[in-house]
Amino acid sequence: MSESKQGLAVVIMAAGKGTRLKSKRPKVLHTIGGKPLVAHVIAAAGRVAEPSNIYVVVGHQAELVKAAVAATGVQFVEQTEQLGTGHAIQCARAAIENYDDVLVLSGDVPLLRWQTLDTMLGFHLAQKAAMTVLTAVPPNPFGYGRIVRKGEKSAEIEAIVEQKSLVAGQVKIDEINSGIYAFRVKPLLKHLDQLRAENTQRELYLTDMAAILGAAGERVVGVVAEDAEEVLGANTIREMMELDAKMNMANVTRLMANGVTIFRPETCVIEPGVEVGPDTVIEPFVQLRGKTKIGSDSTIRSYTVIEDCTLGSDVLVRQSCVLTESTIDDGARIGPFAHLRPGSEIGPDAHVGNFVETKKTRLGRGAKANHLTYLGDAEIGERTNIGAGVITCNYDGAKKHLTRIGKDVFVGSDCTLVAPVSIEDGALIGAGSCITKNVPAGSLAFTRPQQVVKPGWADSLKAARKNRAK
Ligand code: UD1
Ligand code: CA
Repeated sequence: MSESKQGLAVVIMAAGKGTRLKSKRPKVLHTIGGKPLVAHVIAAAGRVAEPSNIYVVVGHQAELVKAAVAATGVQFVEQTEQLGTGHAIQCARAAIENYDDVLVLSGDVPLLRWQTLDTMLGFHLAQKAAMTVLTAVPPNPFGYGRIVRKGEKSAEIEAIVEQKSLVAGQVKIDEINSGIYAFRVKPLLKHLDQLRAENTQRELYLTDMAAILGAAGERVVGVVAEDAEEVLGANTIREMMELDAKMNMANVTRLMANGVTIFRPETCVIEPGVEVGPDTVIEPFVQLRGKTKIGSDSTIRSYTVIEDCTLGSDVLVRQSCVLTESTIDDGARIGPFAHLRPGSEIGPDAHVGNFVETKKTRLGRGAKANHLTYLGDAEIGERTNIGAGVITCNYDGAKKHLTRIGKDVFVGSDCTLVAPVSIEDGALIGAGSCITKNVPAGSLAFTRPQQVVKPGWADSLKAARKNRAK
């Protein structure tokens, strides 16, 4: 992390509605790469300034935006009416007036790296500029404000002209305004009220400060971002999905560089906090989310979604499993179609088969629950076998209770284990039993309604029906 700069405030403009999205949710809360747009920007800002010096301008659905990022410790500034980016900074006047410099970021430019901000700030201070604009030369500049330099090679900027205000001759300018700026606070606040809404949008454009400060004899400079992709804005759902794909591909590429095989990587979702060891194979359409960690030599088959889990090495997760907040030890086999809910701990070499659901349940080494089973609030010992269709009845309608099963236990198919209940080591439970009392070690337990057989009864019933139909 770079040193947070003394006397530096950061203002993140995030009050806009995002009209071009045609969504009822505020733009900056739309999620890409597993996080809301504005959270990406706050994360970058947090590398150059303390959260207490970061001010997020909120307006449209302010309460929602605040709630989404409150945990980061940033400050908020209200812009009740969204009269433009210049007005957003006017609203932040009281917040920033005691700082030396202010970095202004847009809440909808999420790929921005903190290193770029650091470089830009260094340039701003070295140039002793009143305003420094981060610019870029993207393949398609359409839609962005354009940079009018004082001369072809000049560091100085004469004006920033919005797309809709471009005049003939300016249309071919390929250098764009990224919407990211550094200002010296004094000259900014001295001239900020000179902004006028004399444009097609009837808004106060922060971009007009370039010409205003220039006319006041202040130095206004531009620094070109090395990578134009980093400063792309997200104004439409389509643009947002393009940025999401870029972020995702960066994560996929990082894992592949680490020796992970990922088939059809464009179909997989890998979030930034995910770590995977070498020689692990990930099939198409897998999602690895949150803080998921996977060891080496494991295989994750298609359509599996894993969130905040820790998996060991040599683990096989077959198709279409949903795993959340769980741990799976080396050599375990999961799925297909298994659902591991929070607090599941699957021991080494244990098996969890198809249509098995677990929650707050520990399976010991080599234990097996292979078919159609619900295990909730349970502890299951080493090598124990849980038959098809077994259910731990953990909930009495008010409270959850524990089921304890020792090691080397055999639970036959279709048993219900009514918690709290304990089955000790080596016990055998007959198929179809409803177990309500503890079972001592080494014993057999079963509950069994009497089977009644009436020879020939079915045949005579059929014959009687046939006669009646005649
Ligand atoms: C802006 C710049 C444009 C630049 C582009 C880069 C202006 C006038 N234009 O255009 O030169 O190329 O960013 O991405 O600044 N916001 C507020 N309050 C408002 C209006 C907007 O907080 O009253 C916030 C928005 O929520 C958004 C950011 O400011 O996060 C930028 O606003 P947006 O409307 O997206 O500006 P652009 O049209 O993209
Ligand atoms: Ca924008």
